[in-house]
Amino acid sequence: MCGIVGYIGHRQAYDILIKGLKRLEYRGYDSAGIALSDSDYRVYKCKGKVSDLEAQTKDQNINGKIGMGHTRWATHGEPNDSNAHPHKSMNGKFVIIHNGIIENYGKLKQGLEKEGYTFYSETDTEVLANLIEFYYINNRKNGNSFTPEDAVRAALNMVEGAYGLVILCEDNPGQMIAARKGSPLVIGIGKDEYFIASDATPIVEYTNSVIYLNDDDIAVIDDKGLSLKNLKNIPQKPAIHKIDLELSEIEKNGFEHYMLKEIYEQPRAIRDTYRGRLNFESKFLRLGGLHNVFKQLTEANRIIIIACGTSWHAGIVGEYLFEEFTRIPTEVEYASEFRYRNPVINKGDLVIAISQSGETADTLAAIQLAKKAGAIVIGVCNVVGSSIPRETSAGVFTHAGPEIGVASTKAFTAQVTVLTMMAMAIGQANKGLTNQEFTDLIDELYVIPDKIEKILEKSEKIKEIALKIADSTNSLYLGRGYLFPVALEGALKLKEISYIHAEGYPAAEMKHGPIALIDEKMPVIVLATKDHSYDKIVSNIQEVKARKGVIIAIVTEGDTTIKEMADYVIEVPHSDFALAPLLTVIPLQLLSYFIAVERGCNVDQPRNLAKSVTVE
Ligand code: AGP
Ligand code: GLU
Repeated sequence: MCGIVGYIGHRQAYDILIKGLKRLEYRGYDSAGIALSDSDYRVYKCKGKVSDLEAQTKDQNINGKIGMGHTRWATHGEPNDSNAHPHKSMNGKFVIIHNGIIENYGKLKQGLEKEGYTFYSETDTEVLANLIEFYYINNRKNGNSFTPEDAVRAALNMVEGAYGLVILCEDNPGQMIAARKGSPLVIGIGKDEYFIASDATPIVEYTNSVIYLNDDDIAVIDDKGLSLKNLKNIPQKPAIHKIDLELSEIEKNGFEHYMLKEIYEQPRAIRDTYRGRLNFESKFLRLGGLHNVFKQLTEANRIIIIACGTSWHAGIVGEYLFEEFTRIPTEVEYASEFRYRNPVINKGDLVIAISQSGETADTLAAIQLAKKAGAIVIGVCNVVGSSIPRETSAGVFTHAGPEIGVASTKAFTAQVTVLTMMAMAIGQANKGLTNQEFTDLIDELYVIPDKIEKILEKSEKIKEIALKIADSTNSLYLGRGYLFPVALEGALKLKEISYIHAEGYPAAEMKHGPIALIDEKMPVIVLATKDHSYDKIVSNIQEVKARKGVIIAIVTEGDTTIKEMADYVIEVPHSDFALAPLLTVIPLQLLSYFIAVERGCNVDQPRNLAKSVTVE
């Protein structure tokens, strides 16, 4: 949930840290801080953004070729200066930054208070800093040559919870320690320099050689290089990966916001996601990442999709696709519910974990549960090297590219593209699809990016409509069939970036309660493209109009019926109904974007949110 950056090498660390924190600010942004070390270490931190931290350090001593930085998403203690990271231990021996939650921090804090430790913050992180110092000072008291690394290991063996940590020790100013359990940490390897970060985005401009720390790893970096051991003090062999991320992929490239850039990247993201997997001439589909489990997938008794947020909405589209194309019973679960409700999971079940970041704590925990029950678990992720692809036995990457805007857009359409290809592949293999249906879908999927480009050309018209409803306080999104999860996704987009309360509903459900909300102030966004339930959705529109609701309808190009009834109409090209989510979500993304901009909201970093929810 937070952003971590570390540097140790031959350059001044400050600029590297600040630039890195800005690249990671989407991961959490309620406070920021850095520690810089040369002969000593200095800590600067404050509530607010990285830019506020820059202002605070303007006239300070910012020298140091070793340093670390943190942007926080608070879990323990409100966003303020004292709770901001880095956190120093009571006697100043250690300074640490932390991503994650120390679940047993209360018990540990009580023990430390009995030993005379006092605390200045409300965070769990400060407890960990003092625990490390406690082991360090107490073991060295007896003349023991207990190193800072020994103290870190001793403390982490007492910890329950998740952490990504970077640690400096006053007695070893030329050394940096990093440790990971549950929260991601990547180490970039440069020429006589090392970079540490929560993900590769702050590293990619300096090196493409990286090590992804695994759970229980403790890395020590100093002038002798990098050594890697685990919590049991057993040496680990670092696996060096090459990342193929370009700097341009993580810049705004002229767009005002990352979210708008990512909305416009969707045609490219979908083409990249099906490239090399779908052959449109030979009508061939092959998902290499599922090769070693494909037979079990076609024979699965049941499919369980686990995810959170937007990925959960993609999962519902997946449920409809799998049941229609493969006839395998499919259900979708919130990962946070699945992990705690003692679900029935059978050996022959196929579990599909969907996650853009690959780091969502609830989804990771649900994966562990499914694996323990013997299910086949596969991942659909957007970040290579993230935890979920490393925890699952097979999977299919979305190739959407880095998604920086907190509100997920291109990841959603890329996820739906992957799920469509998976359902097509299994449906072809188990005869849930006829050959004609299969080849028709290939042809339809091929032109989806072109159709999205046509919709994007209408963004000015969509903006005009957005300005008409930007001062609303509530809204309703309605859809049927494949468009019901799109209604949910449209509502989530609006509420998370414009802070307008929005609800998505199956259109037919409106009369079971929500219709009571309808009045002339209530915009109702209806997904009403031509399909088998079109007449029913027309009736729903009439029900809303009868109560003076304001109708914004997403319709198939050329629709004249609904044009007569709706207050505003946005046309999308015709498509097979199963692929309609890929088209109808685009106007909803743009609508929420323009409304949020009009309302002066922070579109890329909405309040209270973070891009990757790596805590429960
Ligand atoms: C969606 O716009 C939100 N950013 C959020 O709901 C997100 O989809 C959710 O946290 C799941 O994240 P993941 O896909 O990285 O697991
Ligand atoms: N639990 C720590 C805190 O609340 C770290 C939160 C984070 O991951 O940003 O400060």
